[in-house]
Amino acid sequence: MNKKTFYITTPIYYSSGNFHIGHCYTTVICDAIARFKRRDGYDVFYLTGTDEHGQKVQQKAQAAGVSPKQFVDALHEQIIKLWATLNISYDKFIRTTDDYHEKTVQKIYQKLLDSGDIYKSSYEGWYCTPCESFWTESQLADGKCPDCGREVKLQKEESYFFRLSKYQDRLIEFYNQNPDFISPKSRMNEMINNFIKPGLKDLCISRTTFDWGIKLPFDPKHVAYVWVDALTNYITALGYLQEDHAAFDKYWPADLHMVGKEIVRFHTIIWPALLMALDLPLPKKVYGHGWLLFDGDKMSKSKGNVVDPFVLADRYGADTVRYFLLREIPFGSDGNYSTEALFARTNADLVNDLGNLVSRTTAMITQYFDGTVPAATQYTPLDNELQTLCLGALDKVRVDMDNLSAPDALADIFKIIQRANKYIDETMPWALNKNGDKARLATVMNVLAECIRFAATLLAPFIPQTADKIFAKIGYADTKDFAQLNSFGKAVAGLRVNKGDNLFNRIDVEKELRELAALAAADNAKESAPQTEQTPQITIDDFAKVQLLTAKVIACEPVAKSDKLLLLKLQVGTQTRQVVSGIAQYYSPQQLTGKTVVLVSNLKPAKIRGVESNGMILCATDGDKVVVVSPESDLPSGCTVR
Ligand code: MSP
Repeated sequence: MNKKTFYITTPIYYSSGNFHIGHCYTTVICDAIARFKRRDGYDVFYLTGTDEHGQKVQQKAQAAGVSPKQFVDALHEQIIKLWATLNISYDKFIRTTDDYHEKTVQKIYQKLLDSGDIYKSSYEGWYCTPCESFWTESQLADGKCPDCGREVKLQKEESYFFRLSKYQDRLIEFYNQNPDFISPKSRMNEMINNFIKPGLKDLCISRTTFDWGIKLPFDPKHVAYVWVDALTNYITALGYLQEDHAAFDKYWPADLHMVGKEIVRFHTIIWPALLMALDLPLPKKVYGHGWLLFDGDKMSKSKGNVVDPFVLADRYGADTVRYFLLREIPFGSDGNYSTEALFARTNADLVNDLGNLVSRTTAMITQYFDGTVPAATQYTPLDNELQTLCLGALDKVRVDMDNLSAPDALADIFKIIQRANKYIDETMPWALNKNGDKARLATVMNVLAECIRFAATLLAPFIPQTADKIFAKIGYADTKDFAQLNSFGKAVAGLRVNKGDNLFNRIDVEKELRELAALAAADNAKESAPQTEQTPQITIDDFAKVQLLTAKVIACEPVAKSDKLLLLKLQVGTQTRQVVSGIAQYYSPQQLTGKTVVLVSNLKPAKIRGVESNGMILCATDGDKVVVVSPESDLPSGCTVR
């Protein structure tokens, strides 16, 4: 019989780097769901990836002095490493720079043009580059981006538009017929009241002011709007409009798009409307989770190593980080991150409850039964209570997971662990041993080993490495499904236990906080130190090879068909020469004309966009800011700069 399919996606992550622990939340929760569904017999397809186009990436690459592709390649490598560190079991990783994705997005645009859902017009609006979002005047919050609070720029450009307004009524009808489509419910109301009711406007879906994007097949001056490029990843990854579309046929529509609350809007308005235009079935659910906050604020990497997932996973283990994210953040609402809370959770749940149960039980089986789990003789009502708890746990956890509540699922699993620890205190195995009651002692050990096996099986989707360690400690061969939870008692009898090391080590909170502070101080010192180590030193002779001269800009004009290039005519002493410079986004020709600049005059001539350039003018950059270097006081042109 064919298994039921389950298609789950994370958003594709922006390739702008600086990943913090908050970024890991969406991916870790999806991983737990995907692993749970696989164990529960589903044929799961778990997709994640990176969102690699857009103006933001282009600007960051420029500031870093590398090509956009080099820039995204480096970040892609980092995120792959991050997901490997956290044991993320995705089935496919898509990059929006993948050739098949780019070609399919072009086909999608063509299809939408052919069906009349795309038309050409001109756009004037406020653009937030970090969010890659357009806003109307009335949507701005105090003149700033209503999502992130940053500066927005007024932009006017010829653009292609998607007829989003046409789908307004169908969207409302769809929401009404599928009340669970947007979860939690509060987010559905937010979408209807804030976006749909005021009236949907057609969406600008192409850009011409930068070129790091997918060129539109019918007008290559335009690149695809990053959100259309990004959202379609959910179908291009499966082979939509490609030769091999078996995965698309099998898995689409998605069962669950898991997204942070700030991007619910894109997934519940633009995405379904695009799918309607493409005549495709709509996803079954979009879940908008809350944010992980740091000191009540949205997290950012600038908070240092306490939020660096690599540092945290390295010091405390991937499962500790996973457990914290899954257990501590009330699903659907925001949660707070603090190192103290991470330590408290680890010590209370993982060290005291789980770690102790496993180490006490394996130690007792080693001591009393030479390391072999005994068979039970006769169950008492107390044993039956634990048996019932274990046998009923999967149903409860399944309901929790259907509600997408990992904290509830973990709380239900930990009921087994806590009850089993209490059972040790109640049955007092050491007294049974002293009194020579071997039969009762055997049953108690058997019940405890079973509780551990049930707990490990149920914990496997959440903390997979730990579950594997537990199975190894009790000598159990995990069948990687939940069918192994159908019976209680027999599966563990005869297994050879191996106590080994502790599952988790207690965190010495004071000591750890001191060490983290020392690490942070060392990091800050490294960052503020002059960057002499990374840049190789040169000799004075090397420097003497570069001829720097003052030069006066006597004329300046844009280079035809380029948004970035300016052609500067320079007076250098008695000579004139022309230089092409990539600063059109930062200076107008008028601002430069008359200015004295510094010219690298002995640079080999080059042709840039077919225009001859003889030299280069010096600029200083700070992130997105680019400033032309100019002598402090007026000097004639042709003076040597040293
Ligand atoms: N590229 C877009 C998504 C396109 S999907 C078609 C994007 N990328 S992102 O890198 O900014 O965010 C990726 C995920 O990380 C989102 O679900 C986002 O909500 C999540 N988080 C980023 N910071 C977060 C917290 N501090 N807390 C919880 N999740 C957060 O958006």
